[in-house]
Amino acid sequence: MEVLELIFKRRSIRAYANKPVEQELIINLLKAAMAAPTAANCQPWEFIVIDDPERLASMKEQLVFARYNAPLAIVVCGNMKLAFKGPEQSLWIQDCSAATENMLIAATGMGLGAVWIGITPSESKIKQVKKLLAIPEYVTPLGMVYVGYPAEEKEPRSRYNEKRVYWQEYDPERKHRAKDAPKKGHY
Ligand SMILES: Cc1cc2nc3c(=O)[nH]c(=O)nc-3n(C[C@H](O)[C@H](O)[C@H](O)COP(=O)(O)O)c2cc1C
Repeated sequence: MEVLELIFKRRSIRAYANKPVEQELIINLLKAAMAAPTAANCQPWEFIVIDDPERLASMKEQLVFARYNAPLAIVVCGNMKLAFKGPEQSLWIQDCSAATENMLIAATGMGLGAVWIGITPSESKIKQVKKLLAIPEYVTPLGMVYVGYPAEEKEPRSRYNEKRVYWQEYDPERKHRAKDAPKKGHY
């Protein structure tokens, strides 16, 4: 599939067929994640792969914000022992976000459906996930990707909006309505 076509085809898929994701595909998703760009080549990412149905069920029970019926969850974490030291440490968030997006696009290309579940910066979500998955203090879960064979279809789209684009320099005079902010507790 052509690259732009694949990027437009990636949509958040939240309904999944009752079919496991093959180990080989899981490894390919992780390869895609780890091929992402990373500041100073730090590669501060670590991944917790959860495909045990019992684990997934108990996660669903305990994490109110992550209740989709997927056969696979991959939690993307940043390890502060691997991340930049000092004021630029938070670059790990960009590295792990790039890895997450790579996984989503790769999943689409493999005929899988996926959705990104945000964890950072919510202190309470971080705490719950760390406890549930025995994550040590120096590792922070950025987010989770639920993956499975899709049981819903969504239209590909680009969402190109020229009002969000400035050429050469920003124009603070430009009038455009900001999109309504999402309601609290949207997810
Ligand atoms: C940082 C981040 C956190 C997200 N968290 C959630 C979430 O907790 N639950 C959920 O269902 N979708 C979540 N999403 C998916 C967005 O809702 C989705 O990307 C957005 O509505 C646009 O739809 P699309 O992915 O189909 O283009 C998240 C996406 C991002 C980038």
